[in-house]
Amino acid sequence: MPDVRVSDLIIAKRDGKAVLPNDLAQLIYAYTQDRVPDYQMSAFLMAAFLQGLDATETAALTDAMLHSGVVLDLSATPGIKVDKHSTGGVGDKVSLILAPLVAACGVPVPMISGRGLGHSGGTLDKLESIPGFRTNLTIHEYQAQLEDLGVVMIGQTAEIAPADRKLYALRDVTGTVECIPFIASSIMSKKLAEGIDALVLDVKCGKGAFMKTEADARRLAETLVGIGERFGKDTVALLTRMDVPLGRGVGNWPEVVESIRCLRGETEGVEDLMEVTLALAGEMLHLGGVADSPEAGRAQAQAAIASGAAFEKWGALVEAQGGEVSALHHPDQRPGQPAPVEVKAPDTAQGYIAGIDALAIGYAAVDLGAGRRTKEDAVDPTAGLVLLKKPGEAVQPGDVLAQLFSRKGSQAVADITMQVQGAFSYAASPPVATSLVLDRYTAGGWAAS
Ligand code: URA
Repeated sequence: MPDVRVSDLIIAKRDGKAVLPNDLAQLIYAYTQDRVPDYQMSAFLMAAFLQGLDATETAALTDAMLHSGVVLDLSATPGIKVDKHSTGGVGDKVSLILAPLVAACGVPVPMISGRGLGHSGGTLDKLESIPGFRTNLTIHEYQAQLEDLGVVMIGQTAEIAPADRKLYALRDVTGTVECIPFIASSIMSKKLAEGIDALVLDVKCGKGAFMKTEADARRLAETLVGIGERFGKDTVALLTRMDVPLGRGVGNWPEVVESIRCLRGETEGVEDLMEVTLALAGEMLHLGGVADSPEAGRAQAQAAIASGAAFEKWGALVEAQGGEVSALHHPDQRPGQPAPVEVKAPDTAQGYIAGIDALAIGYAAVDLGAGRRTKEDAVDPTAGLVLLKKPGEAVQPGDVLAQLFSRKGSQAVADITMQVQGAFSYAASPPVATSLVLDRYTAGGWAAS
């Protein structure tokens, strides 16, 4: 047990009182050591979710989570080490493209990612759908690979922000995800622990994001950048829309397949995904000191895809972490892939696809087996879906809207088919195409204001 009584902290938070930084630190420390049971931590999380945490509490929580493990020193690796983190979305496979792409342009990328959370996917689950891929490298292997290859992608080890690892899994199943202080401290504790010099954040807003409104997403971006700056890291946040799944694949292996295609330059039909990826790549290359501006960085990233350097780096990364490189060259031949089930457009579908509810699609992917409903659930690496229609595309009744991949029983898949069908909306004319990147926030403020 910690020195403070956990029930006192739960009651204080429940009643809207601030918790002292030292008490929060003790709580986090004791929870990480398995000395506070999940039921008490869940009650505290829910109280804090409902009552909020102020800036001092959020900083204390980040600090406690950061120091629940080791803070790595990557100074032996030359160059400015830059990472990117997304606040979570549906079909968001950007990290899989971005990490090898930015490394291919000469900026070292040490990336520590999380698993799926609620309806949103996690980079770690996606990487582990590559047969043989190891995300549990030791810290020594992590440092050595960064030095050799300029890129490494792992999950939190027992040593890196272990408090976040435990809390993340608990939040996932206790309805306590969509909370600015929790998201900010979760992201920043693991990012600050990994030894980076600079960070680019993709702060998502909309139906499929944890922040549904632009105002909340702006507050989250300000909180994240504020923490980054307080810890001495150059931090840039892009505010991006997440109303519709990004790209077409949703789930683990379906997203890996799409990222392979993007790294090979096959980007037709996934312009939305590439818009966000290249914007983030431009920022990373600028912060990493190899591009004079984010725009110049974007052009360098495009050139690295066109030359094949980005795909080559991806192959080297997969090989270094034990993954089967042949799977990258023949992604359609992955063993164990279930047969697709088609979702057809209903009789009312006339004209154009107006929207696809990202939240409904995210939950459909979880139900297909790509995510977890309880902490103990195992994910099915092959489960997920591919959207064959996206907003702006013409549609008629009977057209195939999506293909589902699942090992769940036929009744479950039939229910999910309805869910996916219900996520689509239609209009007589195509929606006006708008940029997904809404704004950019740095310590100097918002770009668009
Ligand atoms: N990503 C994280 O790492 N943590 C969150 O809480 C949400 C998104």
